[in-house]
Amino acid sequence: MANIIFHSNTKTFHLYNHQISYIMCVLENGHLGQLYYGKKIHDKEDFSYLVEKCGRPMTSYVFEGDRTFSLEHIRQEYPVYGSTDYRHPAVEILQENGSRISDFQYQCYEICGGKPKLNGLPATYTESDDEAMTLCVVLYDKVTQMKVELFYTIFEKGGVITRSVKLYNEGTRPVHLLTAMSLSLDLPDKEYVWMQLSGAWSRERHVKNRMLEPGIVAIDSMRGNSSHEHNPFMVLKRPNADENNGEVIGFSLIYSGNFRIQAEVDTHDVTRITAGINPAGFDWKLEPRESFQTPEAVMVYSDTGLNGMSQTFHRLYRKRLARGYWRDRPRPILNNNWEATYFDFTEDRLVEIAAKAKECGVELFVLDDGWFGERNNDQAGLGDWIANRERLPRGIKGLSERIEALGMKFGLWFEPEMTNKDSDLYRAHPDWILQTPERSASHGRYQYVLDFSRKEVVDCIYKMMYQILSESRISYIKWDMNRSITECYSAALPADRQGEVFHRYILGVYDLYERLTSAFPQVLFESCASGGGRFDPGMLYYAPQGWASDDSDAVERLKIQYGTSMCYPISSIGSHVSVTPNHQVFRNTPLHTRANVAYFGTFGYELDLNKLSEKEIGQVKEQITFMKEYRELFQFGTFYRLKSPFEGNETVWMVVSEDQNTAIVGWYRVLNGVNMSYSRVQLKGLKADTLYENTQNNTENYGDELMNLGLITTDVTSGEVVGDAVPCTDFESRIYLLKAKEQ
Ligand code: GLA
Repeated sequence: MANIIFHSNTKTFHLYNHQISYIMCVLENGHLGQLYYGKKIHDKEDFSYLVEKCGRPMTSYVFEGDRTFSLEHIRQEYPVYGSTDYRHPAVEILQENGSRISDFQYQCYEICGGKPKLNGLPATYTESDDEAMTLCVVLYDKVTQMKVELFYTIFEKGGVITRSVKLYNEGTRPVHLLTAMSLSLDLPDKEYVWMQLSGAWSRERHVKNRMLEPGIVAIDSMRGNSSHEHNPFMVLKRPNADENNGEVIGFSLIYSGNFRIQAEVDTHDVTRITAGINPAGFDWKLEPRESFQTPEAVMVYSDTGLNGMSQTFHRLYRKRLARGYWRDRPRPILNNNWEATYFDFTEDRLVEIAAKAKECGVELFVLDDGWFGERNNDQAGLGDWIANRERLPRGIKGLSERIEALGMKFGLWFEPEMTNKDSDLYRAHPDWILQTPERSASHGRYQYVLDFSRKEVVDCIYKMMYQILSESRISYIKWDMNRSITECYSAALPADRQGEVFHRYILGVYDLYERLTSAFPQVLFESCASGGGRFDPGMLYYAPQGWASDDSDAVERLKIQYGTSMCYPISSIGSHVSVTPNHQVFRNTPLHTRANVAYFGTFGYELDLNKLSEKEIGQVKEQITFMKEYRELFQFGTFYRLKSPFEGNETVWMVVSEDQNTAIVGWYRVLNGVNMSYSRVQLKGLKADTLYENTQNNTENYGDELMNLGLITTDVTSGEVVGDAVPCTDFESRIYLLKAKEQ
């Protein structure tokens, strides 16, 4: 049960559930101080000893005659710029007179059950008031007459605290918000390893670690999307923490645009974490009586290592961030035509691919890029969301009906935020792209970004998409976004509001998502941005799954999916079997390994099944039958990472059903060796006293055997083929299905 206590004598707030405590108090100067975030501790009226004041030379003090109270050394909740704290602030406000100083004093608080909605922004939610409690602390700066509301929600389950901030201009003059972070947290020491998920196109979300040291570490994006380069997610873990033990805190930002997550360690080893909209380039003009809502940030504390943290994120994001019809439903097995045909297809060719897929058991056929306007290659057509009649004589309506007549569902690709100069949309509205006056506009893949900060642009795209969706039989949309933003400037906004464009753009994207998902609640949305360039919690609120990467090679996917699983549920990870040689790394991996990796995701095929041999088709049919039987377990089970692809030749992970009666272990080895060592892996999450049948090697073991001495994964053929055993090769993998035996 979640609880929030306010001790009025000491002005102390204590948020707690059975796992964690989060404690703050009003400081002597009226600001809000941070006292503790960690494993649950007893409540007390007075925790003021945690305000670590100290007489230190060469600093600046708040009170005349007192050489102990300097904000520079005191842990705070929403630190301001430019007074006695020299660290990076959570908030910076520019007044008309040029001053950037503010002084936010505690005014009052409010506590309620549940969690209020964030207008226009994605956020976690509750379905009943007893799932969480929310505290709103109100602060006020009397010079700027700015009010700040700090929101903290503590969920009943897991070490979760969510935070967001609302700023109001209650004065009579406009101000500019230059920094308005969603979260600021001061931790008392720096003994943490900072872990981030970074990469590039086709190698997204690789795990990177470094020890914190005095100074600043940050990940961010200035590309207009959350980016392939850095995911809006970061973990602080104690040096002795690992997948299963030790203290870790995960920070995740529910936002899809320019973000920044930063740790600043000061000279006394206090660590300040800030997360929110990237202050670089941000400048939001707030007129009198206007307010600004920051995105939401989520913190998860775990004392059972990274797996404990990830399982909490998975549950929260699967059940209380993702929404709608598909949230709890196993995902359809799909066949996407992109790698099968690229732009080279006709209606008949598509139907041929779909028919073969249907024969194999695939449930959804997805038509990717190339179906609209004059889109014969990537240089034209974006923005003209009308079927190309040369390729699709019966339009999308006709094609979707043909696909449904095969007994499958039909899905369609869009890239709503973009246009090509060679398009009717651009010719009609050349001023609708983001472009700076007197500067040339850079392109990315020959495309330009539509100014989604303008309602009329979003309306126009909505109308085109609505038309196709309402007249055709569409069950799924892949929403792509294939370039980063440059020369960001909106022709519709005045000079002093240009610093708002990046954020307004994302609000426009969210608005279009909201309108489409409300109008077509049963359509399954999959987000995409050249693979995983916008794979973030903001997208997950609208699209319960995302194409994790354009890299569909099974070996590459081990790292991508392993990293992704740090924060994101398996049900959200778009993963398909593609052809060999693979189109990104030209590697040949066995068909079973490609499937064994793709099972741990939404599962599908990214190829023309007509091109496979009879034998391979037999395998595909078996894969689909297997996935249909176990997809609920894969997608909604409890996921454990057991061996990291970043640390060796083997990767192992597993899922366990809620009742712990069924588990599936995925074991993968990149390169084969000869005469190799014995190997075993300790499993997790099983019932110690239950006997499990292992269908892979026909053995029976108790849960405690599998968890303590481990599952034996040694090859029977390590250099020599024994009996009729099939010799292993490179890129080998196995799926172990464990079922509790009825006793
Ligand atoms: C992006 C996507 C791919 C595919 C192409 C189509 O790269 O990530 O999956 O849809 O666009 O142009």
